[in-house]
Amino acid sequence: MANSRKRILITGIAGFIGFHLAKKLLAREDMVVGCDNFNPYYDPALKKERAALLPEVLHCDINDEQTLETYVEKHQITHLVHLAAQAGVRYIITHPEKYQETNSNGFFHILEILRRRPHIKFTFASSSSVYGLNKKIPFSENDVTDSPANFYGATKKSNELMAHAYHNLYGIATTALRFFTVYGPFGRPDMAYYSFTKAIREEKPIRLFNHGNMKRDFTYIDDIIDGIIAAIDYEAAFEVFNLGNNRPEELRKMIQIIEDFTQKKAILEMLPMPQGEIQITYADITKAQKILGFSPKISLEDGMQRFLEWSTSCSLC
Ligand SMILES: NC(=O)c1ccc[n+]([C@@H]2O[C@H](COP(=O)([O-])OP(=O)(O)OC[C@H]3O[C@@H](n4cnc5c(N)ncnc54)[C@H](O)[C@@H]3O)[C@@H](O)[C@H]2O)c1
Repeated sequence: MANSRKRILITGIAGFIGFHLAKKLLAREDMVVGCDNFNPYYDPALKKERAALLPEVLHCDINDEQTLETYVEKHQITHLVHLAAQAGVRYIITHPEKYQETNSNGFFHILEILRRRPHIKFTFASSSSVYGLNKKIPFSENDVTDSPANFYGATKKSNELMAHAYHNLYGIATTALRFFTVYGPFGRPDMAYYSFTKAIREEKPIRLFNHGNMKRDFTYIDDIIDGIIAAIDYEAAFEVFNLGNNRPEELRKMIQIIEDFTQKKAILEMLPMPQGEIQITYADITKAQKILGFSPKISLEDGMQRFLEWSTSCSLC
């Protein structure tokens, strides 16, 4: 099965990761279709721009189980990659219901479709946020993840538990992927690397939480896509993998790279740590290396260079 042509449905296909995944899978000649609700969490024009570069995107909500199921049937899907989610750890303070709606209820509808089609291989996006208030670094899949720092992390952890129960009951082959701060061209405008670049270019202040004392395991999009594809091809029973760069970097370093590229100095507004934020993320990727052959290659310098070059021709940036 690993090398035969797959029939893949991607939810959240007009999103940052979904778009890049679809492009790479199409390039290796898998059949790829997808669904997205184009919600306005960030500018839907960017989602439309990504979707316009893909052959087929269904405008649908994952909570509309019937429409999605008809689509799965029509395309005889063999692999479902579930990426649609309400992401972000700040928006949750004002809009917790969006996380419940998509990450919890929507996830349940996906599982129900799979319950009736347990032959479909299931791969889905979890998050480094499941590690929450863990103190031990690097974060390993064997760590206890019972202390989410925010409700986003709680929904992602509950997805892993729900998926495990459905795997146990119905035998659905499942792989959960805990992504660590993914960045790159066509990225998400709500993420720091993107909004900082825009602010520095426009000479506007940027807000640095915890007085800039934060580290992120920034992972370049192409590396993440290689990991997701290896997971799609992997014949799992039920597995959870970290997909990160295994190299946490100071936010200040990322700012420095933007300053060097734009030849502009950042205006920094130092703020205390907000509730629900995490000081450091750091992935132990031993398991993904061993089983998936996952091996991130792109340094923060090279990855940001590629993002910054792309952003100079991006009309929405
Ligand atoms: N980017 C990261 O750094 C990162 C880190 C950890 C986990 N993740 C997870 O990876 C996945 C993809 O993230 P991304 O960065 O591409 O985010 P994204 O917001 O760019 O993509 C998600 C897509 O899902 C769509 N969507 C949301 N709710 C939907 C619904 N109810 N029905 C149909 N479509 C819906 C959105 O319109 C969006 O296009 C998400 O599950 C996210 O939680 C991302």
